[in-house]
Amino acid sequence: MAHIDEIAQHDGQTVTLQGWLHNRRSSGKLHFLTIRDGSGFIQAVMSKATVGDTLFTQAGHLGQETSLTVEGVVRADARAPGGYEMDVTRLEVVGAAADYPITPKSHGVDFLLDRRHLWIRSERQHAVLRVRHTVINAVRDFFNSRGFILADTPVFTPAACEGTTTLFPVSYFDTTAYLTQSGQLYNEANAMALGRVYCFGPTFRAEKSKTRRHLTEFWMVEPEMAYATLEDVIKLAEELITSVVARTLDERQRELDTLERNRAPLEQVRTPFPRLTYDEAAQILTDQGRPFQMGGDFGGPDETVLAEQFDRPVAVHRYPSATKAFYMKPDPERPDLSLSVDILAPEGYGEIVGGGQRLDDLDLLLQRIQEHELPQEAFDWYLDLRRYGSVPHAGFGMGIERVVAWICGLDHVRETIPYPRMLNRLRP
Ligand code: 4AD
Ligand code: MG
Repeated sequence: MAHIDEIAQHDGQTVTLQGWLHNRRSSGKLHFLTIRDGSGFIQAVMSKATVGDTLFTQAGHLGQETSLTVEGVVRADARAPGGYEMDVTRLEVVGAAADYPITPKSHGVDFLLDRRHLWIRSERQHAVLRVRHTVINAVRDFFNSRGFILADTPVFTPAACEGTTTLFPVSYFDTTAYLTQSGQLYNEANAMALGRVYCFGPTFRAEKSKTRRHLTEFWMVEPEMAYATLEDVIKLAEELITSVVARTLDERQRELDTLERNRAPLEQVRTPFPRLTYDEAAQILTDQGRPFQMGGDFGGPDETVLAEQFDRPVAVHRYPSATKAFYMKPDPERPDLSLSVDILAPEGYGEIVGGGQRLDDLDLLLQRIQEHELPQEAFDWYLDLRRYGSVPHAGFGMGIERVVAWICGLDHVRETIPYPRMLNRLRP
């Protein structure tokens, strides 16, 4: 049994493929069958002279997505997308398929999302999901090769990390739990135990807005470091992003071609990234005539305008404390500002990384928990980290789907995860 992605090793040989019929066209005494096996696509040419009348006639009626075993001789062909074709000698149907709903004509996105379990069989979706796989591998290798310890954080949590408005409550025996919005708080505890750690898992936000950047369930990788500052976090994030982009360019050329992704802007992604303070960013927005409220957070279109000023991702740091979560450390030189950073991707993809230095002072942290009207008892364990050997520490979160959308050049994050969850979408 051979796989299409390694077909080059079998040039001139007879091999058997197990796959599905992706497409079929015929001309006289030849059928051109596009076979996919999950690892790739190949054209299998069936001639009546080789296989005989019965099989040839049967093959002319096979429906799209029929599963089949095909035996044939591999032949190099410079015109073929993967460089090879196959001349069929035998074909057996494993499972029939008729009236497959997703045909080569174009369909609306809702139609496709309703059939996401089938849509993922298509060539573009293969390409996106393979890029996602490589991005995730690159992320893991990056942290594993730098001495970070993977320490998983819980999905059921008793309290909010990123604001109470986007919590998903779930009934948890006789109490209420919330699906995690971020592993950060537990990550901080893990960093006090293990030094440099990361967690990587699904996170949940009850986002009521329909935008091209928001999912209600998304995957976030979050590093956290003891004895670290905002500066350390910016450097680490730059290196992570650069390494993920370089690895994807290296390993997924074919997929980026399938997606017709212009690689030039990705090739620009090198350290160091340009940096802007919040104040400088706000000035740019004002100069560009954006209706922007000084002291407020940036909206999606604002982030696009900021990112457009540069040819690589930009780090915007020191946002007003009022726009950020309760755990951000104030800048000692400007206590109204936080030691926070967002990294904005180029080409309008917006914030891909958010993080900063954490509040390490017990009294100030207590005060912030009260100001944010968070239930203190739920954070008691978190306050212990400031009671027993508190140290400066910092970290960030990077959203995998936004990174994949950017690298693939997609106009919406919904295609970057096998089964997207959004405001109006829980199926399939
Ligand atoms: O900026 P956020 O909210 O930061 C945190 O959650 C911190 N606690 C992380 C940390 O410091 N450990 O989210 C981090 C990143 C964003 O930059 C974005 O890439 C992604 O997570 N993200 C989303 N991705 C898809 N859909 C959503 N609804 C997202 N919300 C955030
Ligand atoms: Mg953020």
